[in-house]
Amino acid sequence: MGDERDSALIASLRKAVEAVPTDGELRLHLGELLLGAGRADEAVAEAAQVLQLDPASGRARELMARALAPESSPAGTAAAGTAAAGTAATEPTTEAPRSTSPADTHFDWRSAEADLDSDVEPPFISTVEGAGVAPVYDVERSHLTLADVGGMQTVKSRLEAAFLAPLRNPELRKMYGKSLRGGLLMYGPPGCGKTFIAKALAGELNAGFMSLGVADVVSNYFGDSERNIHEFFQKARRNAPVVVFIDELDTLGQRRSAGAGASHWNAVVNQLLTELDGIETDNEGLYVLGATNQPWQVDSALRRPGRFDRTVIVLPPDAPAREAIFRHHLEDHPVEGIDLARLAAQSEGLTGADIALVCETAVEAALMDSVRSGVPRYVGMPDLLAALSQARPSIAQWLEAARNVVTYGEDDGTFAELRGYLKSVKRL
Ligand SMILES: Nc1ncnc2c1ncn2[C@@H]1O[C@H](COP(=O)(O)OP(=O)(O)O)[C@@H](O)[C@H]1O
Ligand SMILES: [Mg+2]
Repeated sequence: MGDERDSALIASLRKAVEAVPTDGELRLHLGELLLGAGRADEAVAEAAQVLQLDPASGRARELMARALAPESSPAGTAAAGTAAAGTAATEPTTEAPRSTSPADTHFDWRSAEADLDSDVEPPFISTVEGAGVAPVYDVERSHLTLADVGGMQTVKSRLEAAFLAPLRNPELRKMYGKSLRGGLLMYGPPGCGKTFIAKALAGELNAGFMSLGVADVVSNYFGDSERNIHEFFQKARRNAPVVVFIDELDTLGQRRSAGAGASHWNAVVNQLLTELDGIETDNEGLYVLGATNQPWQVDSALRRPGRFDRTVIVLPPDAPAREAIFRHHLEDHPVEGIDLARLAAQSEGLTGADIALVCETAVEAALMDSVRSGVPRYVGMPDLLAALSQARPSIAQWLEAARNVVTYGEDDGTFAELRGYLKSVKRL
């Protein structure tokens, strides 16, 4: 029975992945389910696909490592996806390692399952056939501030105008009739700092940070999606002030237009709209930031006034940003003689995620050298330059998609910034 349900879920996730092959989030869930069902080889293939899309994805590596491990078994901790949800309801995992890095804001299945025991709110256990256990949403405290975000002046001034200035200055707010309602939608290629910036805003406002991955909500809890969205917002309201970060907003638009289960997607979109509009409840102290890699897929209902009515493009990091990213990724490692300005100059076109990978590769090289020679040595410029020479910008695919949209799609002026950027990199 459970098996049947799993294979049905696997089949429908497969379809979804085929429809949107670049959706790493969906692939990871498919991979988790496959692994949970003992289909390790197929799970490896999905993890490999995700790594192609996003070479720095810690979760894909981790999934691959588990899938390749000889003892990877259908039961137990390996099954971290919905496959485990049925059993988790009765036997919550007790020791659940938090596998994600601080930068990774995606929903953490294992800790959610573990938290079922201890969370003060009664866990909602669905009685709906085929549905899972409600996720437990965490309120994080962010130690980042906008000072940690290198470069990206345009984005920072947009945040200033949308949130910081009106908050600091109630008089101005009155004068311009500027309310804090409505969210700011950040868009741009993956790995360029959208999540990072959202966390920095939370730190800057001394607010909590809560993240909702739309793909998680809709792919794992058919039927319960609306309720989970509501729970998420209720928790945010109880914990205000909080930056509410809604990631992968394109997921809803894509599925709705794909036609499959249209009424379900409509219901999910409507629930999100209800929460954003704050009709039944007060959204005071909620600062809403949205993110998407594919803004052209975002449902237009979400873009109306009071919702995500402002947009800002988050582009591959400029030189000061790249410098900050190198610093950030090297500061906890034993480094020596690093010329950050030179690294920044030689990494044009790379995303934050690409740069993270460059740093990791350099650190690994120094480590392997030390192991071979038996003499520990520092990470130096030669390691970094060698890693840089191997690095491939990961946004080629995104640029192509963006170019097609801007060239052939309808343009109501929404993508003026994108158009300008594509021109500047000679893609238009
Ligand atoms: N301007 C920046 N300053 C410092 N670090 C950055 C900056 N932009 C990106 N990064 C780094 O790049 C990584 C990837 O960014 P992320 O926010 O996950 O991208 P996105 O959400 O757009 O896919 C972050 O974890 C962060 O370390
Ligand atoms: Mg992100």
